[in-house]
Amino acid sequence: MGNLTNKNTSNPMDNIDDWEENLKERYPDPETPIKEKEEFRNYVDSERLETVREFYRINHEFQTYDFVCKKEEEFLKFDKKELSLWEAIDFLNTLVDDSDPDIDLDQFQHLLQTSEAIRADGHPDWFVLTGFIHDMGKVLCLFGEPQWAVVGDTFPVGCKFSDKIVYPEFFAANPDSTNEKYNTKYGVYSPNCGLDHVKMSWGHDEYLYQIMKDYLPEPALYIIRYHSFYSQHREEAYLHLMNEKDIEMFEWVKKFNPYDLYTKAPVKPDAEALRPYYEELVKKYLPNKLNL
Ligand SMILES: [Fe+2]
Ligand SMILES: [Fe+2]
Repeated sequence: MGNLTNKNTSNPMDNIDDWEENLKERYPDPETPIKEKEEFRNYVDSERLETVREFYRINHEFQTYDFVCKKEEEFLKFDKKELSLWEAIDFLNTLVDDSDPDIDLDQFQHLLQTSEAIRADGHPDWFVLTGFIHDMGKVLCLFGEPQWAVVGDTFPVGCKFSDKIVYPEFFAANPDSTNEKYNTKYGVYSPNCGLDHVKMSWGHDEYLYQIMKDYLPEPALYIIRYHSFYSQHREEAYLHLMNEKDIEMFEWVKKFNPYDLYTKAPVKPDAEALRPYYEELVKKYLPNKLNL
């Protein structure tokens, strides 16, 4: 269960987080010394670039407006499982990476390191909690969803795909690119209609947002919902769909991104010792059981 190391046509990457390694290549940490960056680049080039490219090829072909509607119908009924947050995290952690023990953290360590870095910088507790849960939507993998429908950069569907999205050439194979309902600047939307009215490509971000939307403060919800929307939070390609509140809230998304991308603690945080703190935090904001 949870073995995502099998290579097949719908799951080209060895590990679902390989796209995030690729993100660090695209958006290197300004604080990492150049030498390390070069070593990293060689590694990425040689080992992963092809599979990540293949991953995006499929992602860009199949993430259509209709596909997103179908997934919303399937997953936003929340009739799959009832779990506490802790059970959900255990469940998520069955997504192990057998292929690469050095580079990748398990899912739980990524969450904990992200949240601990946020906590160490003295941010409010809801921000810490957001770091702690932000990738929980990846449980979609455990419901049998292919990689391209769980992770990867997200982007609006229902309007023209921006050239600022990674590998924009792959959108040529997406039927929405030739559908005149969807291939104009605004498509089915109107100028500055607000992102809440815009459908994003389907994945772990939107799914977790929908699970959490009644429980967390608005900036936390923006972070969860748009943390993979690189063509906006890094490239500002979709300002024409955003309203003033979106623009204001994206400051939080931008603030969160370096914690997500660059946090790697030299010493692993002690999960056992930290558990009581996180139990309190989870209890403060979330119900005992979540419906997935
Ligand atoms: Fe994520
Ligand atoms: Fe993450």
